[in-house]
Amino acid sequence: MSSNIVPTSKPVKSTGLHIGAAEPGCAKRDPILVADKVSRSFGGLKAVDVDHLEVPRGAITALIGPNGAGKTTLFNLLTGFDKPDTGTWTFEGRSLGGVPAYKVARMGQVRTFQLTKALGLLTVMDNMLLGAKGQDGESLVKSVLPFLWRGQETANEAKALELLTRFKLDTKKNDYAASLSGGQRKLLEMARALMSDPTLVMLDEPMAGVNPALTQSLLDHVLNLKSEGMSVLFVEHDMHMVRHIADWVVVMAEGRVVAEGDPYEVMQNQAVIDAYLGKHHDEDLGEDTENVEAMKELLDDEL
Ligand SMILES: Nc1ncnc2c1ncn2[C@@H]1O[C@H](COP(=O)(O)OP(=O)(O)O)[C@@H](O)[C@H]1O
Ligand SMILES: [Mg+2]
Repeated sequence: MSSNIVPTSKPVKSTGLHIGAAEPGCAKRDPILVADKVSRSFGGLKAVDVDHLEVPRGAITALIGPNGAGKTTLFNLLTGFDKPDTGTWTFEGRSLGGVPAYKVARMGQVRTFQLTKALGLLTVMDNMLLGAKGQDGESLVKSVLPFLWRGQETANEAKALELLTRFKLDTKKNDYAASLSGGQRKLLEMARALMSDPTLVMLDEPMAGVNPALTQSLLDHVLNLKSEGMSVLFVEHDMHMVRHIADWVVVMAEGRVVAEGDPYEVMQNQAVIDAYLGKHHDEDLGEDTENVEAMKELLDDEL
């Protein structure tokens, strides 16, 4: 799959995104998201234990790490889909602790899911309209006074159609989301996320299960988010994609951030090699096999 990815632009060698050494928790020049002491346990297992993390603004940051490292759990915590045991975090300088997911999204921080959540029994268009923010029709009083929200609904539909066209889903607008392929559902999720005019887009494994014919287009869509001024934080297992589009890479293992840096540096970092190759010894590699192989291949390239 990865061999189909043609880099649209050469990765930036010196990012200038961080201040001081590129190490776990390092300060960024202009962070959009800052997390402190965020932890979450499931039973005896500490799934997330992040001491400090800053996500740079206006850049594409990849969050990588072996399966079970805590990436999805961290996404859930930062976006209000789960509650941490400890910790605080701010988005655009505003504290997000205890803020429910729908409000987080309205504030401009949206996420997509590793297992796509597109609602199969709604049409593609209705899925898009669910992503719009400030839907006055949601308020009980206003919902019985449709003249207050009809205009807005039309505007939302126009915006949805524009996005669907961009993601080549416009001809499917009246189809049920269930009829879309896995890759198209990923595109729909990304398109829907953009309905709320986000400033930070968080994508959990956008490429997973996507037909190789769609990977280049997905990759271009992610790069477009950045060129439109959005910040992107994405979880990805495909190291080639990470290297081609990420400006910055954060590596998690066993709930912690174990390394940060630009894609080239990070892939030569001993803590990163240990985090991936360490899985070789004692655990079932499962889906990680491809990942470890890709990592080794890249390391061979670099060294
Ligand atoms: N709801 C949950 N209940 C119990 N354990 C969970 C739950 N969610 C995640 N975990 C565990 O937390 C760890 C981190 O999982 P996850 O965040 O999904 O990792 P990643 O996305 O990096 O693969 C794993 O060991 C996983 O089994
Ligand atoms: Mg995950």
